[in-house]
Amino acid sequence: MSAVLDKEICWCRQIIDARFEQYFSAAADERKMIQVQAILPPELDDDSPYAQLVLQNELNFEERFILVLSLLPHFCPQALDSFFLNNKVLGRPYTEFGGWHSKSHSGFLPTCETALFLLAGDNLERRIQLMRFFETDHKLTANRILQLEYGEPGEPKNSAALRISSEYLEFLTTGVQNKPDYSIHFPAKLITSRLQWEDLVLGDVTRCEIDQLITWINHSDEILDGFGLRKNLKRGYRVLFYGPPGTGKTLTATLIGKKVGMDVYRVDLSQVVSKYIGETEKNLSNIFDQAESRKWILFFDEADSLFGTRTQASNSNDRAANQEISYLLQRVEDFPGIVILASNLKSNIDEAFSRRFQSSVYFPMPEPAERLILWNNIFEKTQVENREEIFKEFAEKYELAGGALTNVARYAALSALMDNRKIINKCDIQEGLSKELQKEGKAL
Ligand SMILES: Nc1ncnc2c1ncn2[C@@H]1O[C@H](COP(=O)(O)OP(=O)(O)O)[C@@H](O)[C@H]1O
Ligand SMILES: [Mg+2]
Repeated sequence: MSAVLDKEICWCRQIIDARFEQYFSAAADERKMIQVQAILPPELDDDSPYAQLVLQNELNFEERFILVLSLLPHFCPQALDSFFLNNKVLGRPYTEFGGWHSKSHSGFLPTCETALFLLAGDNLERRIQLMRFFETDHKLTANRILQLEYGEPGEPKNSAALRISSEYLEFLTTGVQNKPDYSIHFPAKLITSRLQWEDLVLGDVTRCEIDQLITWINHSDEILDGFGLRKNLKRGYRVLFYGPPGTGKTLTATLIGKKVGMDVYRVDLSQVVSKYIGETEKNLSNIFDQAESRKWILFFDEADSLFGTRTQASNSNDRAANQEISYLLQRVEDFPGIVILASNLKSNIDEAFSRRFQSSVYFPMPEPAERLILWNNIFEKTQVENREEIFKEFAEKYELAGGALTNVARYAALSALMDNRKIINKCDIQEGLSKELQKEGKAL
């Protein structure tokens, strides 16, 4: 891997040198002679992550150069030192080099301007052609290879920091393509479960609605085209899961993703209305853009806060929060993929918003027969004394959802362990049950 990068960096340095020589050479005919495009990149003849990245994205000369330039601060920061050259006449850095400053890095950090200078020099026509490469629909940014960071509104676009995305940087260093990680700038988290589709216990009505949703996910193009509906139907699908806590809303969202082969990201709503006013829209748009290009399912847990009647804005903070929620709802509405919103209470969701869902799925408390399956599933690999009898009795008697039953299992195991037993008995389970029922204000 390092050998490939080494050659690549070498190529990049040759171009930097050539451009400097060309740009600062006094003789006009010599300036014409030096063509950076003539300096060909090395062959990529292995399947290193770098080669994969270049080949899979079919990066051409310029795109590949821009990519390496964005890597230099990480792999060879000194290669950019020539940009510290000052303009002697003016006693200040050369404007045409671009570059940005960070707090702790002492080297030069490239911007789009830097790439334009190196690839186009003072050739305006080429510069204009190359500016296309930094548009949001160009593959370098659309495929999330680069992450251009814009400064203040009104600044020229080319002064955006030219940065490799953290996922690709990690891919290039470790060879592992990681899922983006939760951060203050990315308030969403990939949710996964060790449970399988078969473990999901749902009543018939709920199951039927979920089957419909899955059919839509698998066949939406067929439905839109085959039935001539594309003109009138939106591509996106927004579905509300509602019902008491612990009935499997989060689990179902996760398992749908597993079943259809899509990642499910849970958006953290408490972070959405952030204290960093103005950051929120940027963070949200980051999530929605990635979700769209990577075909994620977006999951909003405890979404009630979004749909309640908006608070009257009494101060500028409230107004900002309301504005951010409107922005979020707009993005949810325009999203061309699957959005699942979960709520414990339906009554909190205002009518106006209800109409915007393609479907609402109710997750009721499980019936005795479903509870029996849940009891059996949860303790499937556990040794329980008299299990059949106990489970039958408890499933009949206690109306508890799956979430509460997993808590009961935890208490029961704890109780057996403290009593130095490997086998769980009725008393252990009863203890767990009474704790769990207490939480819900009921008695055993
Ligand atoms: N319908 C169900 N089928 C199987 N397991 C369930 C079900 N409902 C809840 N569970 C168990 O309870 C846990 C918590 O459920 P969760 O999906 O978080 O509920 P909700 O999101 O509705 O509050 C799940 O991870 C699972 O172990
Ligand atoms: Mg949940």
